[in-house]
Amino acid sequence: MSTSKAIEIQRESYTLHETPAVLFPFEVYLNAFSVLHFLSWTLWLLHMITHFALAYQIQQDGSHVPWKIWIAALCDLLLAIPEVLTAGNIGLALCTGKAAHPRPSYRLHGRVAPSVDIMITSCGEPADMIINTVAAAAAQDYPPEQFRIFVLDDSHDADLRHAVDLLKLRLNRVAGPQVIYLSRTVMPGQQSYFKSGNLRFGIEQSQRLGEGSMLLAGLDADMIPEPNWLRQMVPHLLLREEVAIACGPQRYYNVPSSDPLGQQADFDIYFTVQELLNDCLGAPMCTGTGYVARRSAIAEIGGWPLAYTGEDYMCSAILTGAGWDVVFVRSFLQTGLAPESMTAAMKQRMRWTDAGLEVHQRLGPYLSASTLTSRMKPSVRAVNMIYIIRDYSPLTTVLGMVLLPLALIPTPGADDDLLSIANKHRPFIFWAQTLFLATHMTRTLRVYLTYKHLNLSHVANIHSQEMWSAPCE
Ligand SMILES: *[C@@H]1O[C@H](CO)[C@@H](O)[C@H](O)[C@H]1NC(C)=O
Repeated sequence: MSTSKAIEIQRESYTLHETPAVLFPFEVYLNAFSVLHFLSWTLWLLHMITHFALAYQIQQDGSHVPWKIWIAALCDLLLAIPEVLTAGNIGLALCTGKAAHPRPSYRLHGRVAPSVDIMITSCGEPADMIINTVAAAAAQDYPPEQFRIFVLDDSHDADLRHAVDLLKLRLNRVAGPQVIYLSRTVMPGQQSYFKSGNLRFGIEQSQRLGEGSMLLAGLDADMIPEPNWLRQMVPHLLLREEVAIACGPQRYYNVPSSDPLGQQADFDIYFTVQELLNDCLGAPMCTGTGYVARRSAIAEIGGWPLAYTGEDYMCSAILTGAGWDVVFVRSFLQTGLAPESMTAAMKQRMRWTDAGLEVHQRLGPYLSASTLTSRMKPSVRAVNMIYIIRDYSPLTTVLGMVLLPLALIPTPGADDDLLSIANKHRPFIFWAQTLFLATHMTRTLRVYLTYKHLNLSHVANIHSQEMWSAPCE
């Protein structure tokens, strides 16, 4: 991006530079993408209707094969549910028309900057890994007197404390930012609430230690921020008072280039397609690291919400429920570590599903007038409804996977039956096949256009993995 295109904006005493968003292929060919999206899903719907209609027609013949045809039709539907939900989400975003105006990039310029307290939460990760993150946070290109770093250690790690002390000495010499090590004590019988409890403790302490900053930021223990992370995130909160939190994408730096478990592909699909579209709906989700939040907004919802797993999603959901805006910043400004074994990767996926379920249980069904969601915008409500169903969709996937083989078991002596059915319904079957072919072709084109910027073999990988890993979720 050339800096010559930057527009200068003045907000109070802050100077911001705006540059147009870098577009992804589906945004460059947005009209083609929209047409393909609606065309392919209309064809899919017709295909589904035809499949069930065919089963019904054969049923009328009174042959003994139909139950398998019904099961095949049912599995066709069950196994498509996760993709249908994603399609619904994308369709909603396309209907808003906002995809044509992607959020620009901003950069805070000069030495006038709002104060930020950065919270780095840890719980037993290796001290050398955590200190790298702290050092990267300290190396922000940001006025050092305007930010502090809180290392919130839930494991009372003496090595980490020592490493922080050494780093502080070095930062003192170069007039770097202040780093504060804190480790809370959880009283016996008290709930720790893991990361959310730790974060809440850190935010409270930062208020007590000197003047509480205007903004709060968070990093996971393994997440290395780019030097311009704050400069690019902060403007989104300066531009509009209604914005409570700005969230951004994550990348892994330890995934093998073949991405065998689809970990990077999973992130890329989420952060370079889905969240961009959710941003049009006002419904991006906080993913727990790299965010910058407005302290007054967090205080207004009663502090960082306590949760067992999904403290990040919980926070953005409650903020939107209270009428605040969440924005998605489309710059890659942080890089972290992916789980390094199959088991750890599966556990991570299970935690994500648990997190969703926990949020949905706390907030109640989104259509009910819960006090936590009373000011939630309809578009955000709709996306959250889709997420509720999605979190339960592994059930339908597993049901489909169990039933499908039943439909494929040969019935002895049924060959003649099948042949006569095929002969009798030849025209109908021909149309059903043609429709299926058209559905398949438009789907392939749509997938190509959506994920053209990614490695398509990795995308195919993650799609099949979503299927086989469903029983674990
Ligand atoms: C895509 O991934 C496959 C499998 O890992 C790899 O062989 C191929 O080189 C990759 N293609 C590109 C363009 O990176």
